[in-house]
Amino acid sequence: MSREPIGVIGVGYVGLVTAACFADLGHEVICRDIDAARVDVLRGGGVPLHEPGLEDLLRRNRRRLHFTLDLDALFARARLAFICVDTPPMPSGDADLSRVQAVIDAIPVSAEGAGLVMKSTVPVGTGEKVRRGLDARGLHGVAYVSNPEFLREGSAVSDFMAPDRVVVGAASSDDADRVVRLYDGIDTEIVRTDVASSEMIKLAANAFLATKISFINEIANVCEAVGADVAEVARGMGLDRRIGASFLRPGIGYGGSCFPKDVRALKQLAGNSGYHFQLLTSVIEVNEIQKRKVISKLERHLGSLRGRQIALLGIAFKPNTDDVREASSLVLASRLVAEGAEVRAYDPVADGAAVAAIGARVVTTPGEALDGADAAVIVTEWNEFRAVLDPAMRDRMARPLLIDGRNLLDPAEAAAAGFEYECVGRPSLTSPVTAT
Ligand code: UDX
Repeated sequence: MSREPIGVIGVGYVGLVTAACFADLGHEVICRDIDAARVDVLRGGGVPLHEPGLEDLLRRNRRRLHFTLDLDALFARARLAFICVDTPPMPSGDADLSRVQAVIDAIPVSAEGAGLVMKSTVPVGTGEKVRRGLDARGLHGVAYVSNPEFLREGSAVSDFMAPDRVVVGAASSDDADRVVRLYDGIDTEIVRTDVASSEMIKLAANAFLATKISFINEIANVCEAVGADVAEVARGMGLDRRIGASFLRPGIGYGGSCFPKDVRALKQLAGNSGYHFQLLTSVIEVNEIQKRKVISKLERHLGSLRGRQIALLGIAFKPNTDDVREASSLVLASRLVAEGAEVRAYDPVADGAAVAAIGARVVTTPGEALDGADAAVIVTEWNEFRAVLDPAMRDRMARPLLIDGRNLLDPAEAAAAGFEYECVGRPSLTSPVTAT
């Protein structure tokens, strides 16, 4: 079956994965971005971000992928264009739709008859606003369809190719049909609905996942107080099909460019609509407190942190990505620097500029981070940090104190390796452990 050419507007994490995957399905894809440097890198075969599998996908489909700065060039070839620009939070918590608006304002009249497919995460009601904006410009023949993405950074390609569902929100079934057809060849459930419900599905899904994380983090905090093991609790909970095992990993809280933004955006959207979304207020508060509990654990072992050398292992907001947006490392580094500690930070992939700007020293190996350290904190659960338990690594530290913010390691192994070890919600081996 021949597949029509499509457009992708905005080639960041979501747009570039979307373009590469549709190209792999057989579409010619015309990608437009406003960042000339990024377009040049992509034209030269480079990959401006770290996402497992993306480089191969781009290379394998180079003949079908075109990169341009020009929207006219895109609509000259494509009659469906995915909008994949970012919608970061404003200080109020509302989503900043200025990049979406810039795209809408720049839609050429040659786009008449084309369809805009919104993949960016936008507040409920954005579809209506965009429709009004297009009609005000006489672009009555430009369709608008909501098609939110559910890609996790670090597994975005597999999430695209094997999604739990594809959501398509449209005012007319013809418009919906045009987008649903693009997903032929992907074996999944298609949820066809109205635009507002489609926009809400995305926000509600992310907010629920964030709620699950804050819930298990609070359970972990109670486990610490009562001597239970949150790993066992999560296991026992997760076997209940109504709960599910995923997103029950406790730690120092969620970060990234989506959960913090989407939870705040939904809370703000509710507030703007006259409803006080109390639960989300708590989800946000728990998440912020969770990041600060690491400091109190360090202070319990070290007393004042002034002058102490602390190693932060991990800067990215999670493993298998280089993304540091809203990463826990940024909160921890700034709190530690504020307490007068000397911070060294290491990440195998993520750029350290953001933590360096806070006052941390970014190093290029875990060993350098550990040299002379009074404590180490596992901030991102990169697999390579399991090697911290090696005696050669331990002995580089001034004190073998390890706070495992992601429960990456096994407490028994850490104790056997001679560490003073603390994680999140699991008994430290100095406390009486109930018989198992
Ligand atoms: C998320 C959603 O999963 C995805 O569907 C949406 O499209 C974009 O936002 P992402 O932010 O890339 O994806 O990463 P995800 O794997 O969901 O993790 C988000 C944050 O939650 C990370 O900081 C991670 O460390 C944290 N997390 C995740 C936990 O603390 N515990 C968990 O059990 C799972």
